[in-house]
Amino acid sequence: PTAQIGVTGLATMGRNLARNIARHGYVTAVHNRSDAKTKALVEEFGHEGTFVPGYSAEEFVASLTSPRTIIIMVKAGAPTDAVIDELAPLLSEGDILVDGGNAHFADTRRREAALRERGIHFAGVGVSGGEEGALLGPSIMPGGSEHAYAKLGPILADIAVDVDGTPCSTHVGPDGAGHFVKMVHNGIEYADMQLIAEAYDLLRHGLGRTPAQLAEVFESWNSGDLESFLIEITARVLRQDDPTTPGRPLVDVIVDEAEQKGTGRWTVQTALDLGTPVSGIAEAVFARALSGSSAQRKAAQGVLPGPAEVPADAEAGGARVGEPGGEEGAGGFVDAADAESFIDDVRAALYASKVVAYAQGFDMIRAGSTEYGWGIDPGAMATIWRGGCIIRARFLDRIREAYEKQPDLPSLLVDPYFADAVARGQEAWRRVVVQSVTAGIPAPGFSSSLAYYDGLRRERSSAALVQGQRDLFGAHTYRRVDRPGSFHVEWGGDLSESQTA
Ligand code: 6PG
Repeated sequence: PTAQIGVTGLATMGRNLARNIARHGYVTAVHNRSDAKTKALVEEFGHEGTFVPGYSAEEFVASLTSPRTIIIMVKAGAPTDAVIDELAPLLSEGDILVDGGNAHFADTRRREAALRERGIHFAGVGVSGGEEGALLGPSIMPGGSEHAYAKLGPILADIAVDVDGTPCSTHVGPDGAGHFVKMVHNGIEYADMQLIAEAYDLLRHGLGRTPAQLAEVFESWNSGDLESFLIEITARVLRQDDPTTPGRPLVDVIVDEAEQKGTGRWTVQTALDLGTPVSGIAEAVFARALSGSSAQRKAAQGVLPGPAEVPADAEAGGARVGEPGGEEGAGGFVDAADAESFIDDVRAALYASKVVAYAQGFDMIRAGSTEYGWGIDPGAMATIWRGGCIIRARFLDRIREAYEKQPDLPSLLVDPYFADAVARGQEAWRRVVVQSVTAGIPAPGFSSSLAYYDGLRRERSSAALVQGQRDLFGAHTYRRVDRPGSFHVEWGGDLSESQTA
């Protein structure tokens, strides 16, 4: 056996990860369910490094030096279990099996426990950055035992992207910790994408500018606090014409129903179990679901009225398919003279909402870490998200600094830097939410993050009334601000109060 590490599952992500590993000088065993992909990889990219093709699971496993390290890059769920079931009997005690897919962290915990019984180290590793990241340097979120990490860590640090000389890979924690953090990463990705889409929607219909013109706005934002991969690609998508009809914006011919593979949904499902309010992520998942509710949308169009005094353009949704449409001056709901301040307001609203999304995501990481005893360092997560991954952004450096200064920061929003940044933008944020409501353009991400912000900062919440209601109809009791204990009012009797605990 000669190979130092193996990759099984050679679809785009697996193939690119294997090439990345081989390019870093590791003798890399490669294997795929069907041989064609293995052959193609070796033929096309064999010159990039040393690949050892395995045309059966047996041959693949036998080509690896002991203790073996194998990375599985197949679809999450049943396909991953099938590969584990096939490989596990061929492995020996001390071997390391790595799942580099987008697995649910609960599956990773289950698999880790089962394989540990057999003496096999199972490491669930989050990999972000899409196809290009996998090849050129992803952000990597490895979970699993210290023992597995001691062998795996240096390889992952080699193939991950570097930011300021620091690799975007670090040990997240045991068993499912890596996949949990990758899941929250994707949840934040959903929220960020939704917020950007809302900003686009408001700008387009507020200003009546073309997508190409708005690409310039996003490009300019990309040289400030909002600098990030998602803002950068937004400009690219908006600038793109329909390849089949030059002059027609691509964004106008794409069906407006967002799909999902499920990691955002998992984030929200898990957040519900943990009791962490990730409202920005939840709105993003539901906005995708609403976009795909075609029967309901069709039934509502032309039936449910919008606000009376909005220029037609806002209602029409800008350019229609088949028209070049959305020309400058086509009219939006914002006066031309106020265009620049509106753009700046939307930028501020986007930034503030984005801080909320990250604050909620980091709260969830802490909650998961506490629940499962993972000991995750939030600052280290911000550090490895600075490069390679889909949510890479300039302000992750600020998040890293915030947690470095105060590891037990109760909320990212109260870190002095972010508190100040959001305070400076909050009036604009409120104006944008008001304008979206007035114009009838849904901005659930902007408005729910603002509601979260206000919910966090207010001294008294309306939950006191909810507690009173619960006590009235169900004798669920309430606590008092002035004395300890639980209390109940005899609602059906003399209205006296009794202490129940
Ligand atoms: C990444 C991405 C990646 C994938 C998403 C897409 O970090 O590289 O998050 O994992 O592109 O799963 O998610 P949806 O299909 O659910 O939008």
